[in-house]
Amino acid sequence: MALNALNRHLALIGFMGAGKTTLAEEVAARLGRRAVDADRLLEGRAQISIPAFFAQRGETEFRVAEASLARETFRQATPAVVALGGGAVKTPEVRSTLRERALTVLVDVDVDTAWERTKATDRPLAQDEDVFRRLFDERQPLYRDIADAVARDADGIILAAAGIHHELGALELLGELVPGDGPVALVADSRVMGIHGPGAQTALGDRLRSRHELPAGEAAKQLHAVERLWSELRLDRSGTIVALGGGALTDAAGLAAALYLRGIPWVAVPTTLVGQIDAGIGGKTAIDIPQGKNLVGAFHWPSRVIIDEALLTTLAERERRQGEAERIKTELLARRALDIRSAAAYKAALCLRDPRDRDVRQWLNLGHTFAHALEAAADFDLPHGEAVALGLLAALRLSGRDTSRVVDALDPQPVKVDRERAWEALQRDKKRSGDAINLVLLGDEGPYLEARPSDEVRAALDNLIAS
Ligand SMILES: NC(=O)c1ccc[n+]([C@@H]2O[C@H](COP(=O)([O-])OP(=O)(O)OC[C@H]3O[C@@H](n4cnc5c(N)ncnc54)[C@H](O)[C@@H]3O)[C@@H](O)[C@H]2O)c1
Ligand SMILES: [Zn+2]
Repeated sequence: MALNALNRHLALIGFMGAGKTTLAEEVAARLGRRAVDADRLLEGRAQISIPAFFAQRGETEFRVAEASLARETFRQATPAVVALGGGAVKTPEVRSTLRERALTVLVDVDVDTAWERTKATDRPLAQDEDVFRRLFDERQPLYRDIADAVARDADGIILAAAGIHHELGALELLGELVPGDGPVALVADSRVMGIHGPGAQTALGDRLRSRHELPAGEAAKQLHAVERLWSELRLDRSGTIVALGGGALTDAAGLAAALYLRGIPWVAVPTTLVGQIDAGIGGKTAIDIPQGKNLVGAFHWPSRVIIDEALLTTLAERERRQGEAERIKTELLARRALDIRSAAAYKAALCLRDPRDRDVRQWLNLGHTFAHALEAAADFDLPHGEAVALGLLAALRLSGRDTSRVVDALDPQPVKVDRERAWEALQRDKKRSGDAINLVLLGDEGPYLEARPSDEVRAALDNLIAS
Protein backbone atom coordinates (compact mmCIF):
# COMPACT_ATOMS: atom_id res chain seq x y z
CA MET A 1 0.00 0.00 0.00
CA ALA A 2 1.37 3.41 -0.96
CA LEU A 3 1.69 5.95 1.85
CA ASN A 4 2.15 9.14 -0.14
CA ALA A 5 2.69 10.52 -3.63
CA LEU A 6 6.31 11.60 -3.20
CA ASN A 7 7.97 10.60 -6.50
CA ARG A 8 4.87 8.62 -7.32
CA HIS A 9 1.90 9.17 -9.58
CA LEU A 10 -1.25 10.42 -7.95
CA ALA A 11 -4.29 8.60 -9.37
CA LEU A 12 -7.84 9.83 -8.87
CA ILE A 13 -10.52 7.19 -9.07
CA GLY A 14 -14.25 7.31 -8.41
CA PHE A 15 -17.65 7.38 -9.99
CA MET A 16 -18.59 9.57 -12.94
CA GLY A 17 -19.68 13.01 -11.75
CA ALA A 18 -17.24 13.03 -8.81
CA GLY A 19 -15.28 15.87 -10.40
CA LYS A 20 -12.06 13.94 -11.00
CA THR A 21 -11.09 15.85 -14.17
CA THR A 22 -11.41 19.31 -12.61
CA LEU A 23 -9.76 18.21 -9.37
CA ALA A 24 -6.87 16.59 -11.24
CA GLU A 25 -6.18 19.91 -12.95
CA GLU A 26 -6.36 21.92 -9.73
CA VAL A 27 -4.21 19.47 -7.76
CA ALA A 28 -1.68 19.14 -10.59
CA ALA A 29 -1.28 22.92 -10.74
CA ARG A 30 -0.71 23.07 -6.99
CA LEU A 31 1.80 20.22 -7.09
CA GLY A 32 3.59 21.54 -10.18
CA ARG A 33 2.73 18.35 -12.08
CA ARG A 34 1.12 17.44 -15.36
CA ALA A 35 -2.58 16.59 -15.26
CA VAL A 36 -3.72 13.63 -17.34
CA ASP A 37 -7.35 12.85 -18.03
CA ALA A 38 -7.43 9.23 -19.12
CA ASP A 39 -10.75 9.50 -20.99
CA ARG A 40 -9.67 12.61 -22.93
CA LEU A 41 -6.36 10.97 -23.76
CA LEU A 42 -8.14 7.91 -25.08
CA GLU A 43 -10.52 10.00 -27.15
CA GLY A 44 -7.58 11.85 -28.66
CA ARG A 45 -5.72 8.66 -29.51
CA ALA A 46 -8.73 6.78 -30.88
CA GLN A 47 -10.06 9.87 -32.68
CA ILE A 48 -13.54 9.00 -31.47
CA SER A 49 -15.70 10.13 -28.54
CA ILE A 50 -16.23 7.70 -25.67
CA PRO A 51 -20.00 7.35 -26.29
CA ALA A 52 -19.22 6.52 -29.94
CA PHE A 53 -16.48 4.07 -28.88
CA PHE A 54 -18.98 2.27 -26.61
CA ALA A 55 -21.64 2.22 -29.32
CA GLN A 56 -19.42 1.05 -32.17
CA ARG A 57 -16.87 -1.21 -30.50
CA GLY A 58 -18.46 -2.19 -27.17
CA GLU A 59 -17.36 -1.92 -23.54
CA THR A 60 -14.95 -4.87 -23.62
CA GLU A 61 -12.82 -3.32 -26.31
CA PHE A 62 -13.01 0.03 -24.54
CA ARG A 63 -11.66 -1.50 -21.31
CA VAL A 64 -8.74 -3.07 -23.21
CA ALA A 65 -7.81 0.28 -24.76
CA GLU A 66 -8.26 2.05 -21.41
CA ALA A 67 -6.00 -0.44 -19.60
CA SER A 68 -3.29 -0.16 -22.21
CA LEU A 69 -3.29 3.65 -21.96
CA ALA A 70 -3.25 3.47 -18.16
CA ARG A 71 -0.21 1.18 -18.27
CA GLU A 72 1.59 3.59 -20.58
CA THR A 73 0.69 6.65 -18.46
CA PHE A 74 1.75 5.16 -15.14
CA ARG A 75 5.02 3.81 -16.59
CA GLN A 76 6.22 7.36 -17.25
CA ALA A 77 8.92 8.39 -14.82
CA THR A 78 7.77 11.94 -14.09
CA PRO A 79 4.95 11.72 -11.57
CA ALA A 80 1.65 13.12 -12.81
CA VAL A 81 -1.87 13.54 -11.49
CA VAL A 82 -4.08 11.13 -13.41
CA ALA A 83 -7.89 11.15 -13.47
CA LEU A 84 -9.15 7.70 -14.42
CA GLY A 85 -12.51 6.90 -15.95
CA GLY A 86 -15.17 5.66 -13.54
CA GLY A 87 -14.98 2.03 -14.68
CA ALA A 88 -11.23 1.73 -15.20
CA VAL A 89 -10.61 -0.06 -11.90
CA LYS A 90 -12.88 -2.91 -13.05
CA THR A 91 -9.93 -4.13 -15.09
CA PRO A 92 -7.51 -6.21 -12.96
CA GLU A 93 -4.51 -4.95 -14.92
CA VAL A 94 -5.39 -1.34 -14.07
CA ARG A 95 -5.66 -2.27 -10.41
CA SER A 96 -2.22 -3.90 -10.36
CA THR A 97 -0.69 -0.92 -12.19
CA LEU A 98 -2.17 1.41 -9.59
CA ARG A 99 -0.79 -0.67 -6.75
CA GLU A 100 2.68 -0.64 -8.26
CA ARG A 101 2.90 2.89 -9.52
CA ALA A 102 0.50 5.27 -7.83
CA LEU A 103 -0.99 6.64 -4.70
CA THR A 104 -4.67 6.08 -5.40
CA VAL A 105 -7.24 8.48 -4.01
CA LEU A 106 -10.97 7.84 -4.24
CA VAL A 107 -12.79 11.07 -5.00
CA ASP A 108 -15.93 10.48 -3.01
CA VAL A 109 -19.32 11.76 -4.13
CA ASP A 110 -22.88 10.89 -3.14
CA VAL A 111 -25.08 9.29 -5.74
CA ASP A 112 -27.58 12.18 -5.94
CA THR A 113 -24.87 14.73 -6.71
CA ALA A 114 -23.25 12.40 -9.22
CA TRP A 115 -26.59 11.87 -11.01
CA GLU A 116 -27.39 15.60 -11.05
CA ARG A 117 -24.03 16.28 -12.67
CA THR A 118 -24.20 13.56 -15.31
CA LYS A 119 -27.87 12.98 -16.21
CA ALA A 120 -27.91 15.52 -19.02
CA THR A 121 -24.65 14.32 -20.60
CA ASP A 122 -24.10 11.73 -23.30
CA ARG A 123 -22.10 9.40 -21.02
CA PRO A 124 -23.10 5.88 -22.01
CA LEU A 125 -23.62 4.63 -18.46
CA ALA A 126 -25.61 7.67 -17.32
CA GLN A 127 -28.66 7.36 -19.51
CA ASP A 128 -31.03 5.59 -17.11
CA GLU A 129 -31.28 6.63 -13.45
CA ASP A 130 -31.98 3.13 -12.06
CA VAL A 131 -29.07 1.62 -13.95
CA PHE A 132 -26.89 4.53 -12.81
CA ARG A 133 -27.77 4.05 -9.13
CA ARG A 134 -27.27 0.29 -9.31
CA LEU A 135 -23.88 0.75 -10.92
CA PHE A 136 -22.94 3.31 -8.26
CA ASP A 137 -23.64 0.82 -5.46
CA GLU A 138 -21.82 -1.96 -7.29
CA ARG A 139 -18.69 0.10 -7.80
CA GLN A 140 -18.27 1.43 -4.24
CA PRO A 141 -16.63 -1.71 -2.73
CA LEU A 142 -14.26 -1.89 -5.70
CA TYR A 143 -13.19 1.75 -5.27
CA ARG A 144 -12.72 1.43 -1.52
CA ASP A 145 -10.74 -1.75 -1.91
CA ILE A 146 -8.17 -0.22 -4.25
CA ALA A 147 -8.03 3.33 -2.79
CA ASP A 148 -5.15 4.27 -0.47
CA ALA A 149 -7.20 7.25 0.76
CA VAL A 150 -10.57 8.94 0.28
CA ALA A 151 -11.07 12.66 -0.38
CA ARG A 152 -13.80 15.04 -1.48
CA ASP A 153 -11.89 18.17 -2.55
CA ALA A 154 -8.48 19.42 -3.71
CA ASP A 155 -7.18 20.02 -0.17
CA GLY A 156 -8.26 16.51 0.79
CA ILE A 157 -6.42 15.01 -2.18
CA ILE A 158 -3.26 16.99 -1.39
CA LEU A 159 -3.37 15.98 2.27
CA ALA A 160 -3.72 12.34 1.19
CA ALA A 161 -0.83 12.78 -1.25
CA ALA A 162 1.37 13.90 1.65
CA GLY A 163 0.21 11.04 3.90
CA ILE A 164 -1.75 13.38 6.15
CA HIS A 165 -4.92 12.21 7.88
CA HIS A 166 -7.08 15.07 9.18
CA GLU A 167 -10.03 14.08 11.32
CA LEU A 168 -11.57 15.25 14.56
CA GLY A 169 -11.00 12.54 17.16
CA ALA A 170 -8.38 10.76 15.02
CA LEU A 171 -6.19 10.07 18.09
CA GLU A 172 -8.70 7.37 19.04
CA LEU A 173 -7.94 5.63 15.73
CA LEU A 174 -4.17 5.75 16.23
CA GLY A 175 -3.81 1.95 16.32
CA GLU A 176 -5.23 1.68 12.79
CA LEU A 177 -3.71 4.88 11.42
CA VAL A 178 -0.09 3.93 12.11
CA PRO A 179 0.87 2.12 8.88
CA GLY A 180 1.75 -1.56 9.04
CA ASP A 181 1.13 -3.85 11.98
CA GLY A 182 4.50 -3.75 13.72
CA PRO A 183 5.27 -2.51 17.24
CA VAL A 184 5.16 1.17 18.19
CA ALA A 185 7.34 3.27 20.48
CA LEU A 186 5.31 6.22 21.73
CA VAL A 187 7.40 9.35 22.25
CA ALA A 188 5.88 12.47 23.83
CA ASP A 189 7.14 15.47 25.74
CA SER A 190 6.68 15.16 29.48
CA ARG A 191 3.75 17.58 29.53
CA VAL A 192 1.86 16.14 26.57
CA MET A 193 2.43 12.56 27.77
CA GLY A 194 0.49 13.48 30.91
CA ILE A 195 -2.40 15.01 28.94
CA HIS A 196 -2.79 12.92 25.77
CA GLY A 197 -0.47 9.97 26.49
CA PRO A 198 -3.20 7.80 28.08
CA GLY A 199 -5.52 8.31 25.06
CA ALA A 200 -2.73 7.46 22.64
CA GLN A 201 -1.76 4.42 24.67
CA THR A 202 -5.32 3.05 24.72
CA ALA A 203 -5.70 3.65 21.00
CA LEU A 204 -2.43 1.84 20.21
CA GLY A 205 -3.53 -1.23 22.18
CA ASP A 206 -1.35 -4.29 21.56
CA ARG A 207 0.90 -2.41 19.17
CA LEU A 208 2.40 -0.30 21.96
CA ARG A 209 5.87 -1.65 22.73
CA SER A 210 7.27 1.17 24.89
CA ARG A 211 6.73 4.79 26.01
CA HIS A 212 9.38 7.49 26.19
CA GLU A 213 9.43 11.05 27.45
CA LEU A 214 11.51 13.93 26.17
CA PRO A 215 11.74 17.27 27.98
CA ALA A 216 8.92 19.72 27.12
CA GLY A 217 9.59 22.50 24.62
CA GLU A 218 12.87 23.33 22.90
CA ALA A 219 14.81 21.26 25.49
CA ALA A 220 13.72 18.14 23.57
CA LYS A 221 15.93 19.22 20.66
CA GLN A 222 19.22 18.41 22.38
CA LEU A 223 21.55 15.62 21.31
CA HIS A 224 21.68 14.16 24.83
CA ALA A 225 17.87 13.94 24.95
CA VAL A 226 17.78 12.12 21.61
CA GLU A 227 20.68 9.91 22.66
CA ARG A 228 18.81 8.83 25.77
CA LEU A 229 15.79 7.98 23.62
CA TRP A 230 17.98 5.83 21.34
CA SER A 231 19.33 3.97 24.35
CA GLU A 232 15.79 3.18 25.49
CA LEU A 233 14.33 2.04 22.14
CA ARG A 234 13.83 -1.68 21.60
CA LEU A 235 12.44 -1.62 18.05
CA ASP A 236 13.68 -3.46 14.99
CA ARG A 237 13.02 -2.18 11.48
CA SER A 238 9.42 -3.36 11.59
CA GLY A 239 8.78 -0.82 14.33
CA THR A 240 7.47 2.74 14.16
CA ILE A 241 8.11 5.77 16.34
CA VAL A 242 4.93 7.72 17.07
CA ALA A 243 5.78 11.30 18.01
CA LEU A 244 3.08 13.03 20.04
CA GLY A 245 3.69 16.68 20.82
CA GLY A 246 4.51 20.14 19.49
CA GLY A 247 7.05 21.05 16.85
CA ALA A 248 9.99 20.64 19.20
CA LEU A 249 8.97 17.08 20.03
CA THR A 250 8.25 16.02 16.45
CA ASP A 251 11.53 17.60 15.28
CA ALA A 252 13.52 15.61 17.85
CA ALA A 253 11.61 12.32 17.59
CA GLY A 254 11.64 12.55 13.78
CA LEU A 255 15.41 12.95 13.84
CA ALA A 256 15.67 10.02 16.25
CA ALA A 257 13.70 7.91 13.74
CA ALA A 258 15.78 9.14 10.79
CA LEU A 259 19.00 7.83 12.34
CA TYR A 260 17.95 4.86 14.48
CA LEU A 261 18.91 1.62 12.65
CA ARG A 262 19.74 3.95 9.72
CA GLY A 263 16.12 5.01 9.57
CA ILE A 264 12.84 3.57 10.77
CA PRO A 265 9.36 4.89 9.96
CA TRP A 266 7.74 7.50 12.14
CA VAL A 267 4.31 9.00 12.54
CA ALA A 268 3.77 12.60 13.61
CA VAL A 269 0.82 13.44 15.82
CA PRO A 270 1.22 17.21 16.25
CA THR A 271 -0.49 18.64 19.33
CA THR A 272 0.12 22.37 18.79
CA LEU A 273 -1.21 24.71 16.13
CA VAL A 274 2.37 25.25 14.93
CA GLY A 275 2.73 21.49 14.67
CA GLN A 276 -0.54 20.89 12.83
CA ILE A 277 -0.05 23.53 10.13
CA ASP A 278 3.73 23.63 9.94
CA ALA A 279 6.25 21.59 11.94
CA GLY A 280 4.57 18.19 11.62
CA ILE A 281 4.41 18.45 7.83
CA GLY A 282 7.07 17.88 5.20
CA GLY A 283 9.69 15.70 6.84
CA LYS A 284 12.22 18.25 8.06
CA THR A 285 13.62 17.10 11.40
CA ALA A 286 16.36 18.72 13.49
CA ILE A 287 17.99 19.37 16.81
CA ASP A 288 19.85 22.43 18.09
CA ILE A 289 23.57 22.82 18.83
CA PRO A 290 25.22 25.71 20.67
CA GLN A 291 26.10 27.28 17.30
CA GLY A 292 22.45 27.61 16.35
CA LYS A 293 18.93 26.26 16.15
CA ASN A 294 18.08 23.40 13.76
CA LEU A 295 21.68 23.06 12.59
CA VAL A 296 21.74 19.26 12.73
CA GLY A 297 18.94 17.38 11.07
CA ALA A 298 17.64 15.17 8.31
CA PHE A 299 14.86 15.00 5.76
CA HIS A 300 12.72 12.08 6.88
CA TRP A 301 9.13 12.16 5.64
CA PRO A 302 6.71 10.75 8.24
CA SER A 303 4.86 7.69 7.04
CA ARG A 304 1.74 9.40 8.32
CA VAL A 305 0.76 12.70 9.93
CA ILE A 306 -2.34 12.65 12.06
CA ILE A 307 -4.03 16.00 12.55
CA ASP A 308 -6.65 15.86 15.30
CA GLU A 309 -7.80 19.38 16.11
CA ALA A 310 -9.38 18.08 19.33
CA LEU A 311 -5.84 17.86 20.75
CA LEU A 312 -5.55 21.65 20.62
CA THR A 313 -8.26 22.24 23.24
CA THR A 314 -5.68 21.76 26.01
CA LEU A 315 -3.18 24.14 24.45
CA ALA A 316 -2.38 27.40 26.28
CA GLU A 317 -3.53 30.60 24.57
CA ARG A 318 0.09 31.80 24.40
CA GLU A 319 1.11 28.69 22.46
CA ARG A 320 -1.88 29.01 20.16
CA ARG A 321 -0.83 32.54 19.23
CA GLN A 322 2.51 31.18 17.99
CA GLY A 323 0.58 29.13 15.45
CA GLU A 324 -1.65 32.04 14.50
CA ALA A 325 1.38 33.90 13.15
CA GLU A 326 2.26 30.93 10.91
CA ARG A 327 -1.36 30.61 9.80
CA ILE A 328 -1.49 34.28 8.80
CA LYS A 329 1.86 33.80 7.02
CA THR A 330 0.34 30.93 5.07
CA GLU A 331 -2.77 33.00 4.24
CA LEU A 332 -0.53 35.73 2.80
CA LEU A 333 1.30 33.16 0.67
CA ALA A 334 -1.90 31.46 -0.49
CA ARG A 335 -3.78 34.78 -0.91
CA ARG A 336 -6.95 33.37 0.65
CA ALA A 337 -8.44 32.62 4.06
CA LEU A 338 -7.24 29.29 5.49
CA ASP A 339 -8.36 27.10 8.35
CA ILE A 340 -6.09 24.47 9.94
CA ARG A 341 -6.92 21.88 7.28
CA SER A 342 -6.35 24.14 4.30
CA ALA A 343 -3.20 25.70 5.80
CA ALA A 344 -1.81 22.19 6.30
CA ALA A 345 -2.69 21.34 2.69
CA TYR A 346 -0.97 24.49 1.44
CA LYS A 347 2.28 23.58 3.17
CA ALA A 348 1.94 19.94 2.12
CA ALA A 349 1.69 20.95 -1.55
CA LEU A 350 4.87 23.04 -1.39
CA CYS A 351 6.72 20.22 0.37
CA LEU A 352 5.57 17.64 -2.17
CA ARG A 353 6.74 19.95 -4.96
CA ASP A 354 10.08 20.60 -3.33
CA PRO A 355 10.81 18.05 -0.61
CA ARG A 356 14.46 19.11 -0.24
CA ASP A 357 13.80 22.82 0.22
CA ARG A 358 15.64 24.04 -2.85
CA ASP A 359 12.93 26.12 -4.43
CA VAL A 360 9.25 26.87 -3.71
CA ARG A 361 9.36 25.41 -0.21
CA GLN A 362 11.49 28.42 0.71
CA TRP A 363 8.38 30.58 0.34
CA LEU A 364 7.45 29.30 3.78
CA ASN A 365 10.30 31.46 5.10
CA LEU A 366 8.24 34.58 4.46
CA GLY A 367 9.16 37.03 7.24
CA HIS A 368 11.55 34.53 8.80
CA THR A 369 14.86 36.20 7.88
CA PHE A 370 13.79 39.14 10.07
CA ALA A 371 12.19 36.92 12.69
CA HIS A 372 15.33 34.82 13.18
CA ALA A 373 17.49 37.95 13.46
CA LEU A 374 15.24 39.43 16.16
CA GLU A 375 15.11 36.12 18.03
CA ALA A 376 18.90 35.82 18.02
CA ALA A 377 19.31 39.43 19.18
CA ALA A 378 16.87 38.70 22.02
CA ASP A 379 18.86 35.59 23.04
CA PHE A 380 15.77 33.58 21.99
CA ASP A 381 13.79 35.21 24.76
CA LEU A 382 11.25 36.35 22.14
CA PRO A 383 8.42 33.98 21.18
CA HIS A 384 8.84 32.79 17.58
CA GLY A 385 5.26 33.81 16.69
CA GLU A 386 5.85 37.40 17.80
CA ALA A 387 9.08 37.54 15.85
CA VAL A 388 7.30 36.13 12.77
CA ALA A 389 4.52 38.72 13.09
CA LEU A 390 7.16 41.47 12.97
CA GLY A 391 8.98 39.74 10.14
CA LEU A 392 5.78 39.58 8.11
CA LEU A 393 5.38 43.32 8.58
CA ALA A 394 8.87 43.91 7.18
CA ALA A 395 8.31 41.52 4.26
CA LEU A 396 5.03 43.23 3.35
CA ARG A 397 6.58 46.70 3.55
CA LEU A 398 9.49 45.65 1.33
CA SER A 399 6.97 44.15 -1.09
CA GLY A 400 5.10 47.47 -1.16
CA ARG A 401 1.95 45.82 0.12
CA ASP A 402 -0.77 46.58 2.61
CA THR A 403 0.06 45.46 6.16
CA SER A 404 -3.42 45.65 7.69
CA ARG A 405 -4.06 41.88 7.69
CA VAL A 406 -1.00 41.32 9.89
CA VAL A 407 -1.61 44.39 12.06
CA ASP A 408 -5.26 43.47 12.68
CA ALA A 409 -4.71 39.77 13.31
CA LEU A 410 -1.38 39.78 15.15
CA ASP A 411 -0.83 43.33 16.43
CA PRO A 412 2.99 43.13 16.27
CA GLN A 413 4.82 45.51 18.61
CA PRO A 414 8.42 46.69 18.07
CA VAL A 415 10.85 44.83 20.31
CA LYS A 416 13.68 46.20 22.43
CA VAL A 417 16.80 44.48 21.15
CA ASP A 418 20.24 45.68 20.17
CA ARG A 419 20.12 46.92 16.56
CA GLU A 420 23.71 45.95 15.75
CA ARG A 421 23.26 42.43 17.09
CA ALA A 422 20.07 41.97 15.10
CA TRP A 423 21.72 43.21 11.93
CA GLU A 424 24.74 40.95 12.42
CA ALA A 425 22.44 37.99 12.97
CA LEU A 426 20.48 38.80 9.83
CA GLN A 427 23.64 39.00 7.74
CA ARG A 428 24.71 35.57 8.94
CA ASP A 429 21.45 34.27 7.52
CA LYS A 430 22.06 31.55 4.93
CA LYS A 431 20.10 33.34 2.22
CA ARG A 432 22.71 36.05 1.57
CA SER A 433 24.46 36.71 -1.73
CA GLY A 434 27.08 39.44 -2.15
CA ASP A 435 25.93 42.87 -0.99
CA ALA A 436 22.28 41.94 -1.34
CA ILE A 437 20.10 39.79 0.84
CA ASN A 438 17.73 37.18 -0.53
CA LEU A 439 14.20 37.49 0.76
CA VAL A 440 10.80 35.98 0.14
CA LEU A 441 8.50 38.77 -1.01
CA LEU A 442 4.90 38.95 -2.14
CA GLY A 443 3.69 40.09 -5.54
CA ASP A 444 0.30 40.14 -7.24
CA GLU A 445 0.97 36.67 -8.60
CA GLY A 446 2.08 35.29 -5.24
CA PRO A 447 5.43 34.81 -3.48
CA TYR A 448 8.84 35.10 -5.13
CA LEU A 449 12.49 35.15 -4.06
CA GLU A 450 14.45 38.35 -4.61
CA ALA A 451 17.79 39.81 -3.57
CA ARG A 452 17.38 43.26 -1.97
CA PRO A 453 20.16 45.77 -1.26
CA SER A 454 21.56 45.57 2.27
CA ASP A 455 20.64 49.15 3.23
CA GLU A 456 16.96 48.62 2.38
CA VAL A 457 16.87 45.43 4.38
CA ARG A 458 18.62 47.05 7.32
CA ALA A 459 16.12 49.92 7.31
CA ALA A 460 13.23 47.43 7.33
CA LEU A 461 14.81 45.58 10.26
CA ASP A 462 15.39 48.81 12.21
CA ASN A 463 11.72 49.62 11.80
CA LEU A 464 10.83 46.54 13.87
CA ILE A 465 13.04 47.55 16.79
CA ALA A 466 11.85 49.88 19.58
CA SER A 467 14.16 52.80 20.21
N1 LIG B 1 10.29 20.80 11.07
C1 LIG B 1 9.69 21.88 10.64
O1 LIG B 1 9.37 22.00 9.46
C2 LIG B 1 9.36 22.95 11.62
C3 LIG B 1 8.53 24.01 11.23
C4 LIG B 1 8.20 24.97 12.18
C5 LIG B 1 8.68 24.88 13.47
N2 LIG B 1 9.50 23.85 13.82
C6 LIG B 1 10.02 23.72 15.19
O2 LIG B 1 8.92 23.59 16.08
C7 LIG B 1 9.30 24.06 17.36
C8 LIG B 1 8.18 24.87 17.94
O3 LIG B 1 7.06 24.02 18.07
P1 LIG B 1 5.77 24.43 18.92
O4 LIG B 1 5.46 25.85 18.70
O5 LIG B 1 4.75 23.42 18.59
O6 LIG B 1 6.25 24.35 20.42
P2 LIG B 1 6.73 23.16 21.39
O7 LIG B 1 6.84 21.88 20.72
O8 LIG B 1 7.93 23.69 22.07
O9 LIG B 1 5.54 23.11 22.44
C9 LIG B 1 5.25 24.23 23.21
C10 LIG B 1 4.71 23.84 24.59
O10 LIG B 1 3.37 23.38 24.45
C11 LIG B 1 3.18 22.18 25.17
N3 LIG B 1 2.12 21.45 24.47
C12 LIG B 1 2.20 20.87 23.27
N4 LIG B 1 1.00 20.40 22.92
C13 LIG B 1 0.16 20.66 23.93
C14 LIG B 1 -1.22 20.41 24.12
N5 LIG B 1 -1.99 19.83 23.19
N6 LIG B 1 -1.77 20.80 25.30
C15 LIG B 1 -1.00 21.42 26.23
N7 LIG B 1 0.27 21.69 26.07
C16 LIG B 1 0.87 21.31 24.94
C17 LIG B 1 4.54 21.53 25.14
O11 LIG B 1 4.68 20.65 26.21
C18 LIG B 1 5.47 22.71 25.24
O12 LIG B 1 5.66 23.05 26.60
C19 LIG B 1 10.60 24.82 17.18
O13 LIG B 1 11.64 24.04 17.70
C20 LIG B 1 10.76 24.94 15.68
O14 LIG B 1 12.09 24.94 15.25
C21 LIG B 1 9.84 22.90 12.92
ZN1 LIG C 1 8.18 29.81 11.79
